[in-house]
Amino acid sequence: MNRKVTVFGAGFVGSTTAQRIAEKQLADVVMVDIIEGMPQGKALDMMESACLEGFDAKVTGANDPAACAGSDLIVVTSGIARKPGMSRDDLLKTNAGIVGSVCEAIKKNAPNATVIIVSNPLDVMTYLAGVKLGFPKNKVIGMAGVLDSARFRCFIAMELGVSMRDVDAMVLGGHGDDMVPLVRYATVAGIRVEDLLPKDKLDALVTRTRNGGAEIVALLKTGSAYYAPSSSVVEMVSSILRDEKRVLPCAAWCTGQYGVKDMFVGVPCVLGANGVEKIIELKLSNDELAQLKTSSDHVFENVKRLNL
Ligand code: 2OP
Repeated sequence: MNRKVTVFGAGFVGSTTAQRIAEKQLADVVMVDIIEGMPQGKALDMMESACLEGFDAKVTGANDPAACAGSDLIVVTSGIARKPGMSRDDLLKTNAGIVGSVCEAIKKNAPNATVIIVSNPLDVMTYLAGVKLGFPKNKVIGMAGVLDSARFRCFIAMELGVSMRDVDAMVLGGHGDDMVPLVRYATVAGIRVEDLLPKDKLDALVTRTRNGGAEIVALLKTGSAYYAPSSSVVEMVSSILRDEKRVLPCAAWCTGQYGVKDMFVGVPCVLGANGVEKIIELKLSNDELAQLKTSSDHVFENVKRLNL
């Protein structure tokens, strides 16, 4: 492969992300983690599957963050995950220290990389990375909207008993309890979901989407989701490395779009070789805009707690 992706954090989200990137032949992958032997062991295990899965991408593991040198793209999953009863905001201080030091290593070793942040609380960690890296803001992107939208799509499909592939829906705002699933824009093969389901059912799907991460945490008890999060990251990785120009909801630096200024929050973006190439401004209702404001205000409150 002639492209290199480094994944910081070789836990469940990081290692499944590395696996999906390799299996899709998107790039060679380096997994970096502080636990000695762990990223190396997982990388070797993945390499031993290459002849069976049929991929030529090289996967390696390292403990030294300098291994990210020369990366085209970097995915940051480092940090602790939620336990049952915890909110994403409860991770703020611990993960800020971890993500901050990862960003220092990226800045030093891979100054031309595009960086996707996955660590929670997502939007705040993306803001922190934006500040610490000092990279052009279009090259620092948070993954969450793709995941939240995938959950919304999944719940709509399950409710209607239709193929997941025919459901399109988008969730904007911060990756938290006040995220904004856009019911008005949700469709099944072009048919408005509002014409297919009554309001009480739609309200229940919105609530389930907002609690999507917590639902998995409550079931797993010892960690948080990783299959759908890693699929979501890889959708973004693919769009950037292959310059696909996918329209995906991501935490992007807003400069007034949707009334949000100087803040990272989930908005529909065109993702290509230059990272966030455009933010698409949908016509939102006053109620949707108010929900987005509540969500971005929440992100701002947590950003202030970091005293950057
Ligand atoms: C989730 O929503 C971990 O925040 C992630 O599952």
